[in-house]
Amino acid sequence: MASHIFTNEENNERLEYTLRVKEKNEAAKLLGARRNACVVTYGCQQNEADSERIAGMLEEMGYTLVKSEADADIIIVNTCAVRDHAEKRALSITGGYKHFKEKNRDLIIGIGGCMVSKSDMSEKIKHSYPYVDFVFGTEKIFDLPKIICGVMEKGKRMFVSNTGDATVPEGLPVHRESGYKAWVSIMYGCNNFCTYCIVPYVRGRERSRRPEEIVREVRELVADGYKEITLLGQNVNSYGKDLDEKCDFATLLRRISAVEGDYIIRFMSSHPKDASKELIDVMAEEKHIAKQFHLPLQSGSDTLLRAMNRRYDMAQYLSLIDYMRQKMPNIAISTDIIVGFPGETEADFEQTLDAVKKVGYDMLFTFIYSKRTGTPAAVMENQIDEKTKGERLSRLLKVQESIAEAKNREYIGKTVRVLCEGASKTNSEKLTGRTEGNKIVLFDGDASLEGKFINVKISDAAAFALYGDVE
Ligand code: SAH
Ligand code: SF4
Ligand code: F3S
Repeated sequence: MASHIFTNEENNERLEYTLRVKEKNEAAKLLGARRNACVVTYGCQQNEADSERIAGMLEEMGYTLVKSEADADIIIVNTCAVRDHAEKRALSITGGYKHFKEKNRDLIIGIGGCMVSKSDMSEKIKHSYPYVDFVFGTEKIFDLPKIICGVMEKGKRMFVSNTGDATVPEGLPVHRESGYKAWVSIMYGCNNFCTYCIVPYVRGRERSRRPEEIVREVRELVADGYKEITLLGQNVNSYGKDLDEKCDFATLLRRISAVEGDYIIRFMSSHPKDASKELIDVMAEEKHIAKQFHLPLQSGSDTLLRAMNRRYDMAQYLSLIDYMRQKMPNIAISTDIIVGFPGETEADFEQTLDAVKKVGYDMLFTFIYSKRTGTPAAVMENQIDEKTKGERLSRLLKVQESIAEAKNREYIGKTVRVLCEGASKTNSEKLTGRTEGNKIVLFDGDASLEGKFINVKISDAAAFALYGDVE
């Protein structure tokens, strides 16, 4: 069945509520009040992209965006639920807002995102965090003006969880954090139900944006001078399956790449079970597509891959990697690995180490398995103790460090094109940027290079960064 795309009526309703909130804010400002908004984001790029829409809507409602919660009259926390740690952090930060509310009785506090999309967490917030004014699920972002209006007019707390009938919102305003790097969500939700993962429960079923909307957004971004555009979806390879019009991800990439200009396209994430040869062919052919692939493996053991419901085995995964390298010999490949999934034996874990060595990843994102209530893996037997998980993680990181360093050293003496991202956060004397392969490069130069493509000759390399000089 085709996804329900936002109708004009729905957009008009959103705009009506936007206007009602704006009028109240403008009236308050005339009386000397301040109307500042702060959006705090946890979690993945999808959440960052959602937060840019939340911020855009807040601006439309007459708020001025600020960086610090202490200066805000409305705080919105966009939460993540993927691991226990992420939830604990979001809850503890929310706990800290109590004293802001005591200082500013007019302060409005709202919690959105994946953590509160489950009704049990929404209930918990309702009862244990009385100073939180509203909660909204991931499928309800576009209802924000209506929710804020309700809180303002009725003075009542509002709890709007996901209802499983998500639409594909179009036409929402976006406040982009960067003037040269942009997120573009191409689809929402996930249908894969990997047994460890909470995402399908909090993000709902897969729904794709129409290709013409995506191409239009990319064309506007390129015209506005954006240099790096990252297409987002939980599994971009299943893009288009729910559309009436036939357009798979490879076709979408071809259509996007036809936009003329000086920019690169990245995408994430890809599920190995759906990564097609055609997708790899398009990447090899289209100059705008960065030669970088994030292909989450999760485990090198076929037994565990089955228990995780990943629906591919090591042989299939490796044949994809071979095909990629055959078509694009210099492609940079990264992956996600979970250590300590229930039932992971020493032999399973060693297969993961072997897989990591065999593939030779440029970068690894490693996670200790975290039990998520409601997922099948949470009730599996043979949960692994924390000490073993920790030890396995350290062993994995050690193996990867030498692989990454060796890979990075191959760049020494070569010149790479880098999109400059301004001063480095770890070394303020240096500028930083990323290569087409998404590798971090540190170099000397003038801050005015930020947002520009430049050529850097690499003189040194470590496991996590390259060093060089602007040519
Ligand atoms: N949709 C993306 C990733 C979503 S979550 C994909 O499938 O690639 C990002 C990563 O978090 C996953 O790839 C996985 O490695 C990790 N992850 C998800 N659930 C987890 C859990 N319960 N414990 C530990 N890591 C988890
Ligand atoms: Fe989670 Fe799997 Fe979906 Fe990724 S593909 S979001 S890991 S269920
Ligand atoms: Fe977290 Fe939701 Fe992303 S659970 S990782 S913010 S999709």
